[in-house]
Amino acid sequence: MNDFVFHSPTKFVFGRGYADRTGAEMKQLGFEKVLVVYGQGSVVRTGTLARVLASLDEAGVAYVEAGGARPNPEVTFVRQAIALAREHEVTGILAVGGGSSIDAAKAVSFGVPYDGDVWDFFAHKQPIDNCLPLAVVLTIPAAGSEGSGSCVISNDAENRKLGVSGDAFRPRLAIMDPELTFTLPAYQTAAGITDMIAHICERYFSGVGSVPLTDDIACSIIRTLIKQAPKVLANPNDYDARANVMWAGTLAHNDLVGCGRSLSPTVRAGGWESHALEHELSAHHTEVTHGAGLAVILPAWMRHVWRHDEKRFLAFARDVFDIEPAEGYESYRDAVHDAVTAAIDELKGFFASIGMPTRLRDFGLTEDDIEPMLETLRTNKGEPFGAFMPLTIEDARAIYESAL
Ligand code: NZQ
Ligand code: ZN
Repeated sequence: MNDFVFHSPTKFVFGRGYADRTGAEMKQLGFEKVLVVYGQGSVVRTGTLARVLASLDEAGVAYVEAGGARPNPEVTFVRQAIALAREHEVTGILAVGGGSSIDAAKAVSFGVPYDGDVWDFFAHKQPIDNCLPLAVVLTIPAAGSEGSGSCVISNDAENRKLGVSGDAFRPRLAIMDPELTFTLPAYQTAAGITDMIAHICERYFSGVGSVPLTDDIACSIIRTLIKQAPKVLANPNDYDARANVMWAGTLAHNDLVGCGRSLSPTVRAGGWESHALEHELSAHHTEVTHGAGLAVILPAWMRHVWRHDEKRFLAFARDVFDIEPAEGYESYRDAVHDAVTAAIDELKGFFASIGMPTRLRDFGLTEDDIEPMLETLRTNKGEPFGAFMPLTIEDARAIYESAL
């Protein structure tokens, strides 16, 4: 087990009806006047925003609203929200929504105290030390941003989607009320579950050998998601299934499943190859839902790299899908090949079974769309990139082509 720092400063307040506690919890933590950041209207339609604002009123927390963060949030919205936050001299931020609203809110939280343009942080990847405190009310379990030290923002003018990392902007408070997720469309529910599994896999295939405790937790969360997914899709109001999925989303990405797996104690475990490849997809095609993009990219990446460390993939096959190399093969290599590819097929089949796309063509992409993604990938990641098997741009091309 490698050395690690596990920093999870968020207070998670988890339970039925807990959206109504938002104001009281925030007041207790010292929030006085906040910018409320939300998305493109789901929280208005579901009544969640009204409930949260009522709880702020009741607790005496003042607020200004900034609605309109789109999925794959864009820096223009962030800049406008920063201006609004400054104009009203807010001292904290509250996000009500999913990863897109939360990431927009995170960018506002470190953009407000900074004199320059907030995109500087994404372009130069400067460390971020100074932030307004952030609270969130989560409405979709997926990105794990409620507990993560990541923030991902798109810049349409530059066809880029970049992330920054840091502990300073991890939320102080996350209100997690599984009932808020009953209204999720099936596609978003499934894309969220896919994203969680990808967050675990990025750390599991980190280029570090086995760390039994961390690996068992990781595989157990994946197995839980595979079991609970059909339940939430069949019955969107199944509280227990929704609750398990919601908490899984946080644990998949608050670095618990990376403990002991990073190369340096202060650097997140994993090479995040599939995320790098997907971020180019949703940067160039902003309508692509992040998790749905990963449903296509992650299995394609696995097929490309598994031979680099087949023992690791055999452990994954055994611990997630109960698949072992079968007896009766003339060569053990063939048995390994079939076991690993069966596990990758199972994973891809699971994504398909919950309604996720299986090919890039499902998003309307053709061969012509690959080169532009490779160009920005080269700028954003350099070459080679990743940790499990460092990827060249030609590897990336092969993965995109195999996923077409
Ligand atoms: O915009 P609104 O109207 O709110 O609708 C949203 C959006 O259309 C809707 N929705 C959310 N909660 C709902 C609901 N609809 C009905 N009922 C509810 N309760 O769902 C759609 C997706 O929301 P979004 O916030 O975009 O989803 P998600 O949480 O998947 O966030 C995706 C973004 O997070 C980034 C992704 O790249 C993407 O930009 N990521 C952030 C990470 C992080 N900060 O740690 C890590 C991830 O790997 C990821 O990259
Ligand atoms: Zn993700």
